[in-house]
Amino acid sequence: MTGALSESPEPLPVVLVGAGNMGRHWIRTIESTPEVRLVGIVDLDLDLAARVAQDEALDVAIGSSVSEVAARSGGAAVVNVTVPAAHRPVNEEALFAGLPVLCEKPIAPTLVDALQQAALAEVAGGLLMVSQSRRYFTELVRLRAIADRLGRVGAITTEFYKAPHFGGFRDRMEQPLLVDMAIHQFDMARYLLRADPVSVSCSSWNPAWSWYDGDASAAATFEFDDGARYSFTGSWCAPGRETSWNGAWRISAEHGTAVWDGDGVPEADGIDSLPEAPDGPEEIAGSLAEFVRSLRSGEVPQNEIHENIHSLAMVEAAVLSARTGERVDIAQLLELRYAEAVRTERRTDVRERLEQWGSVARLRLRGAAEVAS
Ligand SMILES: NC(=O)c1ccc[n+]([C@@H]2O[C@H](COP(=O)([O-])OP(=O)(O)OC[C@H]3O[C@@H](n4cnc5c(N)ncnc54)[C@H](O)[C@@H]3O)[C@@H](O)[C@H]2O)c1
Repeated sequence: MTGALSESPEPLPVVLVGAGNMGRHWIRTIESTPEVRLVGIVDLDLDLAARVAQDEALDVAIGSSVSEVAARSGGAAVVNVTVPAAHRPVNEEALFAGLPVLCEKPIAPTLVDALQQAALAEVAGGLLMVSQSRRYFTELVRLRAIADRLGRVGAITTEFYKAPHFGGFRDRMEQPLLVDMAIHQFDMARYLLRADPVSVSCSSWNPAWSWYDGDASAAATFEFDDGARYSFTGSWCAPGRETSWNGAWRISAEHGTAVWDGDGVPEADGIDSLPEAPDGPEEIAGSLAEFVRSLRSGEVPQNEIHENIHSLAMVEAAVLSARTGERVDIAQLLELRYAEAVRTERRTDVRERLEQWGSVARLRLRGAAEVAS
């Protein structure tokens, strides 16, 4: 990876792009993290950016262009909290201005867009990391250590049942649960299994009492490349006995079983004692810490864009399976989307880089080798 910062005791000056709901959470997290320092806020809505800065009592540069604000404020890295359709233009401008980016999930609305951004990051030579923040629950890290001790995994299941009334864009989406939420659990399953998905069969539906326009319920079963199966069932209009936001997990393995309610300490049989949960920041504070660490060390972080594309592929494959009623082969889907990415990329340098890949095997090479630790 290029663009690593030297070991430096100084806090990393960061520009935040996207001052909406999640942007405010990020601002507070950046402000409470000693390793970083907020120097600028960017939003197309300048009044909003100025209002947020005022509300949070911040004396920072305000503007609508990430490269211009970074140049004016001395920003050396970017946190992109815009809506998914704006991730590419913001990441492109930042990366070609020499600024590494930590970008909110999902990295893109489509796999085609995500593949194009992976090639773009290669051309620009900078780090593009996705904030897949639910990987940073310390009890999930402990659950993975338990799974490692339980031997080969046969099956993992997640039940996710909540009844939130968000209002806004989620109520209008065609697949609110699969697209806006399940990417977290799909990514957590990949994290636990240390494997990548091969295929999926998925069904989605909208219960009669649903307050969503699109399908608020889904059931998906994935096959992984180590032979394990991962089954997700969930609903966003399921009042009563709600699960945690992480969902309720069960791991069935060669030497025993582990269960986790997504909040507390996991339970397991088949092992003598529970491994320790690590200390460390959770959720977006956890992804921010890993981003800074990787910039200081030059090491490739979890959720570098090439690696993260496999989680986005699980979502797009599940949506396709739900629409067609067919099992979807994920490698085939990635190859189809790769061909479309080459055909539709508008930048010559990025298109040429995509062509050099030859196939999406490039994703697997980078992902598997670099995230195995
Ligand atoms: N990790 C989580 O648990 C979690 C939770 C909620 C949202 N998110 C993600 O955070 C992101 C933002 O979500 P939100 O709910 O804050 O959305 P939002 O609509 O409240 O805010 C987005 C902001 O981005 C600004 N914007 C849009 N295009 C821009 C551009 N080209 N340049 C600069 N600013 C631009 C908009 O003006 C708006 O202020 C999404 O990717 C969403 O999926 C993640």
